[in-house]
Amino acid sequence: MIELSVKDISVHYGKNCALNNVSLPTLRAGDVLGLLGPNAAGKSTLMRAVTGAQNHKGTVQLNGKNRQQHKQTDWHNRVAFMPQTPPQGSALKPIELMWSATRSLGISFSDKQLAGHIESIFDALELNDFAMKPLDALSGGKRQLVGLALCMLRQPQVLLLDEPTSALDLYWRMVVLDLVAEHVRSTGAIAIAALHDIDLAVRYCSHIAIIDQGKLVAAGAPAEVITRENLAKIYHIDADITFGPNNLPNVHINKPLRGMNNETLNINL
Ligand SMILES: Nc1ncnc2c1ncn2[C@@H]1O[C@H](COP(=O)(O)OP(=O)(O)OP(=O)(O)O)[C@@H](O)[C@H]1O
Ligand SMILES: [Mg+2]
Repeated sequence: MIELSVKDISVHYGKNCALNNVSLPTLRAGDVLGLLGPNAAGKSTLMRAVTGAQNHKGTVQLNGKNRQQHKQTDWHNRVAFMPQTPPQGSALKPIELMWSATRSLGISFSDKQLAGHIESIFDALELNDFAMKPLDALSGGKRQLVGLALCMLRQPQVLLLDEPTSALDLYWRMVVLDLVAEHVRSTGAIAIAALHDIDLAVRYCSHIAIIDQGKLVAAGAPAEVITRENLAKIYHIDADITFGPNNLPNVHINKPLRGMNNETLNINL
């Protein structure tokens, strides 16, 4: 049984408290959590803390064991992290990156198995035509797809995706999130994705957590969390919500609520 528990995470950068005792809902096989929140809320910091790349207080447990109790190679094989910044342009080709990443992760595929596995990932992301081109000849969106391909190499139990669709057009946003959803559904994995696109979060996520100024301010099913009040208070936008099929909220944004404080916001809600 796959289960991820993230409890009481605090991170300080010098005197700046970037995360203050943030706990996420416990996630189980098949769950996708959308991590929402304004710029600088602490989403990337939380992602890095969960992977172990960021010093923090609090506990991260996978399948009942603290991260520190997992062997490092075992942890890296189970938990894949896609950072907010796509792989930088370089002379390296995507195919070379995939092979070298596999070797550095210690994934025990034979060369033949690995070649087939890489081909199927590149097929799914339509990257075959780009596999032999240097990264610095690829567009930002294609480099972001290469970042996802790297994550899928190890067939992870936990996918941590920091704004995986930020450089992608509408078609690719949906292809990428369909692929993540299919991986989660078919293998019983768990995914956490930091997203700014609320419509995508509602469509693909079983759970949504919103952080603001380093604190968890809302968590639950999309219909519970994506409310007019939360969008005004947290994002400072005026929006109307309607409910579509499956009772999922549709957000219709009217305008930014510039220059309002909490008191004037309350009057306007
Ligand atoms: N390495 C760092 N050193 C110092 N401060 C940092 C560092 N990384 C992040 N911060 C600060 O921590 C806070 C949270 O940043 P973080 O990148 O986690 O936000 P975010 O929610 O991911 O924002 P965005 O939506 O813009 O990606 C911000 O105030 C940021 O300036
Ligand atoms: Mg970020």
